[in-house]
Amino acid sequence: MGCDEFGWYSEHMLRPKVGGAFIFVWRDFSMREKLEQLGKQALSALDAASSSVELDELKVRFLGKKGELTAILKQMGTLSAEERPVMGALANEVRGRIEERMAARRGEIAAAEMEAKLANERIDVTLPGARRPLGHRHPMTSLLDEVKDIFIGMGFEIVDGPEVETTFYNFTALNTSENHPSREPQDTFYFSDDVLLRTQTSSVQARTMEKRQPPIRIIAPGRVYRKDEVDATHSPMFHQVEGLVVDKGIKMTDLKGTLDLLFKQIYGNDTKVRFRPHHFPFTEPSAEMDLQCFACHGKGCRMCKGEGWIEMLGCGMVHPNVLRICGIDPEIYSGFAFGLGTDRMAMWRYGVNDLRLFFENDMRFISQF
Ligand code: DAH
Repeated sequence: MGCDEFGWYSEHMLRPKVGGAFIFVWRDFSMREKLEQLGKQALSALDAASSSVELDELKVRFLGKKGELTAILKQMGTLSAEERPVMGALANEVRGRIEERMAARRGEIAAAEMEAKLANERIDVTLPGARRPLGHRHPMTSLLDEVKDIFIGMGFEIVDGPEVETTFYNFTALNTSENHPSREPQDTFYFSDDVLLRTQTSSVQARTMEKRQPPIRIIAPGRVYRKDEVDATHSPMFHQVEGLVVDKGIKMTDLKGTLDLLFKQIYGNDTKVRFRPHHFPFTEPSAEMDLQCFACHGKGCRMCKGEGWIEMLGCGMVHPNVLRICGIDPEIYSGFAFGLGTDRMAMWRYGVNDLRLFFENDMRFISQF
C-alpha cells in the first residue's frame, strides 16, 4: 500500500501515454490515480479498523503532516498552472471523503468500545456483599464506659496517668511510710529503686493535685499491677477507677452520697451499700465500702460466701499530709477519695466466674457480650 516517493514516477514515465502532450498526460494521470488510489486505500483501511487507536494511526498515516496525502501534494510543484487547481480540488475531495468516513467510523467504534466496556465491567448489584463482621467493645471496656458516664453526669473529669510510675507518686506523695509493706518487692514490680509499675491508680491523685488547685473532681481509670499469682479471681494486672474530690467543705457524707448513687445507677435503685472503718495511709478517716449482695439481697449465698455483703472498694477523706505534700492547704480545703476495682464488677455484671477469661482474648468468649 505504501509508495515510495519515486515509485509512481518511474512506473509511469516508462509507460507512453496517448496524445501529443505525453508529459502532461502521465503527470495528470499519475497524480489523479495516486489520489484516488490513496482515497480507496484509506477508506478500506478505515472500514477494517476496529479500535480508536487504530483510527488515530490511520489519521496520522493518511492525513498527517508527514502522511501519504501530504507526500502526494508535495508533487504539486511539478504540475502546470492549469493542472494545479484541478488536482488541488481533487486532493481536497479525497481528504473530505477520508475525513467523513473517519468521523463515521469513530462514532461506530466508540459505541462498540463503550458496549464492550459495559459488558466487561458488568457488576451484579443484587449479589450479596462480602460481610465484614462488626466487632464490639470488650466487656471490661463497656463496664468502664458505664462508670465513666455516671461520673461525667455528676460533673467529674476523666484524667489519665502513667502505668510506669515513680515511688514518689505511687507511695511517698500518698503518705505511705518508707517501711510500709505495700512497698515490698514481693508485692510490687520494680524497674529500679524509684521506678515501678503502679500498684494503684491513687498515684493519679497526687499527680492531679500537684498540677492544680481545687475545686478538683476527677476519676482516673486504668491498669494497675501487683505480684499476684493468676487464678480465677486474681491477676498481676487488673483495673481500678480512682476518684478524687477536693474543695472547700467536702465531707464524708459527700463521699457516701456519691458512691451510693454510683451503685444505685449500676445495680438498681434498691441497691444498698455500707461503710466499715479501715486503714489506708492516704485517707483519714478511711473506710471500706460493701455492696449488699445483689444475688441474695443480704440473706447470704454462694456469691457473697454467706456474708450477705460484697467488699467493693476502699475510700476515705484525703489525709491532710497528702494535701500538704501536693501543695494544697488542708486548713482551707478537704476532700474525699476512693479506689474501685472494676474487674470484679465486670465479673458480676456479666455472670463470669473466672477473671482469666477476660484477658485471654478467646473470640468464642468475647463475642458473647
Ligand atoms: N488504692 C487503694 C488500693 O488499691 C484503694 C483506695 C483506698 C483508693 C482508699 C483510695 C482511697 O483513693 O481513698 O487498695
